[in-house]
Amino acid sequence: MNYSEKVMEHFSNPRNVGEIDNPDGLGEAGNPKCGDIMKIYLKVKDNVIEDVKFKTFGCASAIASSSMATELIKGKTVDEAWELTNTAVAEALDGLPPIKMHCSVLAEEAIHKALNDYRKKQGLDVIPIKEFDHEHESCAV
Ligand code: FES
Repeated sequence: MNYSEKVMEHFSNPRNVGEIDNPDGLGEAGNPKCGDIMKIYLKVKDNVIEDVKFKTFGCASAIASSSMATELIKGKTVDEAWELTNTAVAEALDGLPPIKMHCSVLAEEAIHKALNDYRKKQGLDVIPIKEFDHEHESCAV
């Protein structure tokens, strides 16, 4: 598998690993095919993502995607964070092998779920989340 240097760097030295006690938002996404799971914890203040942590049980691409995605949303408003797509995460990593693109989907999905959890706690309507077809994705490790 040909990984970019950035993927290898974020995989070997992931940023924002861990949990947040009493998070303002918590989201979990899993891919039933490979069993990989990503959890995202948010601390939000004045509508801004003050802190974000992740726990990912998964492949190198899933870990690098979590690391990069958390870096990209830290300090952003909740609305800006919602706009983060899995393709933007993959681009920021200088690309993922095509067969590994679905791993970055976990990051988009877990962040959306965490943001919706935050919205729910604020009494706001949740935003519909794009349905990803994990069942039909290839998930070669
Ligand atoms: Fe399943 Fe990467 S998330 S192989």
